[in-house]
Amino acid sequence: MTTAKKGFPENFLWGGATAANQLEGGYNLGGKGLSTADMIAHVPKELRKGGHAMEITSERIEEILSGAIEKLFPKRFGVDFYHRFKEDIALFAEMGFKVFRMSIHWARIFPNGYDETPNEEGLKFYDEVFDELRKYGIEPLVTLSHYETPLALTQKYNGWASREVIGHYVKYAETVFNRYKDKVKYWLTFNEINVMLFSPYTGGGILIDKVENKLQTVYQALHHQFVASAIVTKLAHEIIPGSQVGCMLARMETYPNSCNPEDVRLAQFENQINLYFTDIHARGEYPNYMARYFEENNIVLQKEVGDDEILLNNTVDFISFSYYMTVTKSASADLETTAGNLTGGVKNPYLEASDWGWEIDPIGLRVTLNNFWDRYNKPLFIVENGLGAYDKVEEDGSIHDSYRIDYLSKHIEQMKEAIKDGVDLIGFTSWGPIDLVSMSTSEMSKRYGFIYVDLDDEGNGTLARSKKDSFEWFKQVIASNGEVL
Ligand code: BG6
Repeated sequence: MTTAKKGFPENFLWGGATAANQLEGGYNLGGKGLSTADMIAHVPKELRKGGHAMEITSERIEEILSGAIEKLFPKRFGVDFYHRFKEDIALFAEMGFKVFRMSIHWARIFPNGYDETPNEEGLKFYDEVFDELRKYGIEPLVTLSHYETPLALTQKYNGWASREVIGHYVKYAETVFNRYKDKVKYWLTFNEINVMLFSPYTGGGILIDKVENKLQTVYQALHHQFVASAIVTKLAHEIIPGSQVGCMLARMETYPNSCNPEDVRLAQFENQINLYFTDIHARGEYPNYMARYFEENNIVLQKEVGDDEILLNNTVDFISFSYYMTVTKSASADLETTAGNLTGGVKNPYLEASDWGWEIDPIGLRVTLNNFWDRYNKPLFIVENGLGAYDKVEEDGSIHDSYRIDYLSKHIEQMKEAIKDGVDLIGFTSWGPIDLVSMSTSEMSKRYGFIYVDLDDEGNGTLARSKKDSFEWFKQVIASNGEVL
């Protein structure tokens, strides 16, 4: 037992997190191919079924490609980081960022995913971005795959449903590891790997109308991703000595709605289904409870000889996760439900919710951190947390986002408590340090940033950047290493 910690460690990695498809734009520039994200159109709220606009069919892809539907595709344009990264990185540096989480758009490197040789222009673009970050001493944290499967892999193989995609992903990872080995030390293999359960298209580039058995396909595709993740973890360690590779989960700490054992067991089951991902990444094997789940749901995994060894011998160095909310589950029907990140539960009467119905639970973050640490004893990295909210620009251009400051300060306070509890937390990157296109709804008006971007849901605006009140606030949080909130 060591002595209790007092606060954030000195080398704590403070920063912000983004994804290429929501930030970059330049979807057809520099030799980039189309990706699955480029096919997602903005759907006005009133026409959205169930809140999410990210699932898609093969028929819809054909329609878009044949030009029959000409709509707005916000993820093709992002907020034009492609042309403005120097300005944006200078602002991150001004806030004192130690780390910047971003993804490489796979289709910028291999336009079709299965090409023989990589696209030099794409590789050069990220060279410039990493050099710019290094200029300010900002450590890049790079996600290899953040909902950006090259579309050609979807068309040829139905994405990760096919084992063939493992080889293409490994080739892509090997290419970027070799190219950026002196520039990037921290890597994540798949963003929110569990999204596959909620949206196979988003997580795996899978068109679900093309498969017979959704559950079977999804768990098989996940097996392919686990194997791919372990192979590239090994490669990163070989190619980049001292590199740190993490997995990434959308963690949904699930509470029972009451002390009724039925509720408690249901919440336990939900937690297991959420944690089976990190169990494999961190412990190197499928947990026993999944054997029963697979059997009861007639899921038969096709494994190849050597898969189990690959998983066991190449576990991750750290566990990263997104945390926006907790979920509450009840065994009884007919209770009021809530929306959420990927999934929701029943309404928790002790919590308030964001404008998008995501329940805000700072103490749940302390619970989550402690549970992760107790289960795995591996370093933890919060790579997404933040508040999506409507911002109002005042006449003088100022933006008073006290609600965002309030949300973040309460979560950071609980991170500090968890560190005092003994949790090894190495970093925090808040989601969307600069406003970007929403993943689930493709809106611009759902804003997370410390930096405002003049762009609306229909794509109108100057793209000018300006500082919100939270900009100076976060700068002071970093400068004081989390002491001044
Ligand atoms: C996470 C994703 O689920 O949540 C991000 O990794 C996403 O890509 C973030 O943007 C917030 O979700 P949304 O739908 O509000 O953009």
